[in-house]
Amino acid sequence: DVRTLVLGIETTCDETAAAVVERLDDGTARILSNVVRSQTEEHAIYGGVVPEIAARAHVDLLDGIVDTAMKDAGVGFAQLSAVAAAAGPGLIGGVIVGLTTAKAIAMVHNTPLIAVNHLEAHALTPRLTCALAFPYCLFLASGGHTQIVAVTGVGQYVRLGTTVDDAIGEAFDKVAKMLGLPYPGGPEVERAARGGNPARFDLPRPMLGRDDANFSLSGLKTAVRNEAARLTPPDAQDIRDLCASFQAAVLESTADRLSVGLKLFEARFGAPRALVAAGGVAANQAIRGALQDVAAKAETTLIIPPPALCTDNGAMIAWAGAERLALGLTDTMDTAPRARWLL
Ligand code: KG4
Ligand code: ZN
Repeated sequence: DVRTLVLGIETTCDETAAAVVERLDDGTARILSNVVRSQTEEHAIYGGVVPEIAARAHVDLLDGIVDTAMKDAGVGFAQLSAVAAAAGPGLIGGVIVGLTTAKAIAMVHNTPLIAVNHLEAHALTPRLTCALAFPYCLFLASGGHTQIVAVTGVGQYVRLGTTVDDAIGEAFDKVAKMLGLPYPGGPEVERAARGGNPARFDLPRPMLGRDDANFSLSGLKTAVRNEAARLTPPDAQDIRDLCASFQAAVLESTADRLSVGLKLFEARFGAPRALVAAGGVAANQAIRGALQDVAAKAETTLIIPPPALCTDNGAMIAWAGAERLALGLTDTMDTAPRARWLL
């Protein structure tokens, strides 16, 4: 019998990843392999991702990672139904490496190519891990993106809200940097916040009460910088209190923005089947708690895929490829890599 097997390649930021996913006839899936190599160490001394270093690391790492993903899955290239790569949005050097590799495999093995939008892959991930029907509401919060998206079908996405300046993960990273915490800052800020007093600093709650579902983080980030500048220098407890106060402001603002987003969703598409969170920020326990409250108030279910599938990975690209393949949506060899690509 014929198996639908898709190889997925992810190189849009600082994770080099490949995976093989099998889509079964009933629409469910099995992850046969999922190999992720994070470049955190390569970028740590610079305090952030350096695009040129990322691109070169993808060149060095990707062949071996694709090989491992195929071996782990016990699958040969000739058995693949399609090869999918994230064709953007992201750091263009890395995107070129992943897409070109996928094209080479597709050409040599005469297999369909699928150029996946990285954001679409995040959006479809919950359907990889559970039997979730459309429509649902996606909250995507990573280092590069902060969006509320109505997912009404494969290829059918309506953006209900986005950040007007920094992404949430980016704000966590910048706050960590200004307080002297290591990169990547999100988990560090969360850890520090646990021992801090969230009421000590009176920080702004950006966009609170507005009737659109947009986010803004830069004013809050500046407020943290100003408070830190008044402490000369901030001691360990000051840092914990600042982190706790910052995180509390992010939580309150996020909960407010999401509850508006869910109202906009309901008005246009009816009740969502679920609120789904994805992206590295969804790893934050305090944010998970806030999302739980938002979902309960809106009388919907909260779904957060396991952390390894929330952050960048190859399985989500393979799965988005499988969903597109099932609809006959394949791409041609002249498909261009894209730094910017709205859903
Ligand atoms: O999705 P992701 O792994 O990569 C992309 O940005 O695409 O997200 C990484 C971002 C970083 O900005 C990181 O600081 C943030 O997610 N992050 C967190 C936490 N863990 C990761 N932010 C807040 N709390 C966390 N526990
Ligand atoms: Zn991502």
